[in-house]
Amino acid sequence: MAFRARILGAAAGGGLPQWNCGCRNCVLAREGRIPAQTQSSLAVSANGTDWAILNASPDIRAQLAATPPLHPTGLREMPLRSVLLTNGDIDHVAGLLTLREMQPFELHATSEIHAVLAANPIFSALNPEVVTRRTIALDSPAEIAPGLTATLFAVPGKVPLYMEGAEVETDLMGEQTVGVELRSGETAAYYIPGCARLTDDLRARLEGAALVFFDGTLWRDDEMIREGLGHKTGRRMGHMSMSGPDGSIAAFDGMAIGRKIYVHMNNTNPVLRPDAPERAEAEAAGWTIGEDGMEVTT
Ligand code: MLT
Ligand code: MN
Ligand code: ZN
Repeated sequence: MAFRARILGAAAGGGLPQWNCGCRNCVLAREGRIPAQTQSSLAVSANGTDWAILNASPDIRAQLAATPPLHPTGLREMPLRSVLLTNGDIDHVAGLLTLREMQPFELHATSEIHAVLAANPIFSALNPEVVTRRTIALDSPAEIAPGLTATLFAVPGKVPLYMEGAEVETDLMGEQTVGVELRSGETAAYYIPGCARLTDDLRARLEGAALVFFDGTLWRDDEMIREGLGHKTGRRMGHMSMSGPDGSIAAFDGMAIGRKIYVHMNNTNPVLRPDAPERAEAEAAGWTIGEDGMEVTT
């Protein structure tokens, strides 16, 4: 086996259903008529025994409970070797607080994302004598689990919502939002849960990949406004949408990628309904809609 990935959470921040949301999808999920989805996280392994978790969601406790390969193997022995963060957003870091029980693992992120954690004293609950914080420079591979290397690369994005100032640049390129290239032997897989735009560089990087997990936050850019749920577009949130001429379905069209899987779906996204025509359209374009517990092996 070269590479194994398991979606711990397929939803964006808030999850499906989101605690305060009465939108169509959230109501259906509460009624058990469509599958609920927890918040954004992916577990990866090169040997099936040692695992890294990409992003620590607020739902991590339930996600780990639902994932037998990540259960303790002894009194305090865990298959979890490391956690890697792709940005400082709450849906990707709040779960670190759940991992505070003096359990050793490595915490990988860029220096900017580590600085965000360091500026928030609550994260010192992860005792530095037990949890080793490792800085990964952009574009330099680091081993995150035995036989599995991660290379972080900048993708267009923005600073976390709670750090936004008066002016917000929504397609900054730097250390605040990264994609991950995962390598195990000859296999390359990519994890990019937040991305404002598919740049030419990113397109070239992904061309020929066996597997890509990509930002599926919204179906259309003004989806939240149209549903009467807020004033923000996907663009303003630093996410490219699936549909439309600027969308990811169009942007990936014609690229040679073995498997394309959407993750980080917002609860308003119609593709979360198994019978939605939008879902059929994404699937007809070669995309799989990620779901909690979905496993992919390459
Ligand atoms: C996002 O992906 O845009 C953020 O997770 C939003 C948030 O922090 O709620
Ligand atoms: Mn998010
Ligand atoms: Zn909702």
